[in-house]
Amino acid sequence: MAAWECQRLQSLIAARRPGHSLAAPFYTAADVFAADLDLIFGRHWIQVGVEPDVPEPGDAYTVDIGPWSVLIVRDDDMGIRAFHNVCRHRGARLVDSEKATVGNLVCRYHQWTYGLDGRLLFAEHMGKDFDRACHGLKPVHLRSLAGLLFICLADEPPADFDAVARVMTPYLAPHDLANCKIACQSDLIEKGNWKLTMENNRECYHCAGNHPELTIPLFAYGFGFSPEEADETDLLQAARYDRMVCDLGARWEAGGLPSRVVEHLDDMVTGFRTQRLPIDGSGQSQTLDTRVASRRLLGRLTDPQLGGLSFWTQPNSWHHFMSDHIVTFSVIPLDADNTLVRTKWLVHRDAVEGVDYDLDNLTGVWQATNRQDADLVELAHAGVRSPAYEPGPYSPFTEGLVDQFCNWYVSRLAAGLTP
Ligand code: FES
Ligand SMILES: [Fe+2]
Repeated sequence: MAAWECQRLQSLIAARRPGHSLAAPFYTAADVFAADLDLIFGRHWIQVGVEPDVPEPGDAYTVDIGPWSVLIVRDDDMGIRAFHNVCRHRGARLVDSEKATVGNLVCRYHQWTYGLDGRLLFAEHMGKDFDRACHGLKPVHLRSLAGLLFICLADEPPADFDAVARVMTPYLAPHDLANCKIACQSDLIEKGNWKLTMENNRECYHCAGNHPELTIPLFAYGFGFSPEEADETDLLQAARYDRMVCDLGARWEAGGLPSRVVEHLDDMVTGFRTQRLPIDGSGQSQTLDTRVASRRLLGRLTDPQLGGLSFWTQPNSWHHFMSDHIVTFSVIPLDADNTLVRTKWLVHRDAVEGVDYDLDNLTGVWQATNRQDADLVELAHAGVRSPAYEPGPYSPFTEGLVDQFCNWYVSRLAAGLTP
């Protein structure tokens, strides 16, 4: 990055008003987008998939982040590895589909052949002095957090992932994501900057006005409100909700399911937050009738009424774990104005579609909510492009997590610019 570009970013960072949305260039400028790829997506743990993306030996899953293409493969010992999806001969993309099942990894240009461990096994016509051992696939750091796959493209990944894993594994493990199957995946391209996608995820201020399906299972009070503006009925409802959080939380904890809030969204390099929250109605699942969508509960769970365990990570993901299914969301920036939101719905791997679950019922709430969110992100992105846009104030009651996302983003960008 040229010195003047670095200075421009530093002055944008210095001018940021905490508690306010970001200045327009953060959402629209090509140079900021380039810095986002390099300093945010190139240097942090990025959630890109789940173990059930590669259930069997030889299964491969590719994900593209900016100029990078990463190949995730399951090896013969059931280990999962990640490599740069770049042939070591003349650089051709090795696997050019999102999913593949292979014996070895064969480049279709000149048939250089790699094992599932990345070693170069075969390369014809290279002469007797050619050293295959020097031409294995380049590894990418990969970690599975209870079945959620994170990659880091940096040489030295943030070391605090271990601390995140220590806290989060007891929360996530009972849902046994590794033994689920992907019942459905949706790839939605939102016409907006990736940070608008993330900000939109970090508040439910917009839910009552925009999400008729999501507000069936979700309690409005779980995401903050202004007590001064609440009437007596609101306050009674909020108090009832608080009691429910305490009572159900105690019940879940007693049953061995950690449920308390843990929040490190802007005070760790690998920022995250988790909490198990009650679900309205029957309290079972994020469906239109609030009941489990799959009769086959996950792992060894027997109680369908476990609410929704949410797990948010910086910079690019959020997930909801219920007794019967899991919904994962991974955000991948495409350019300054377009963002891929990849959603996966997972059920127990032995659950049978049409017998144990109905796909429309399983996906109904989040398919509708995703479409509504894509529309809102497009609306926000169109607005911030106007010269009349200036950063506006966040609600202290409902947009605290948005502010924490921006705090994290700005501080990590600043850290990346520091020599
Ligand atoms: S570029 Fe892959 S074998 Fe030649
Ligand atoms: Fe939303």
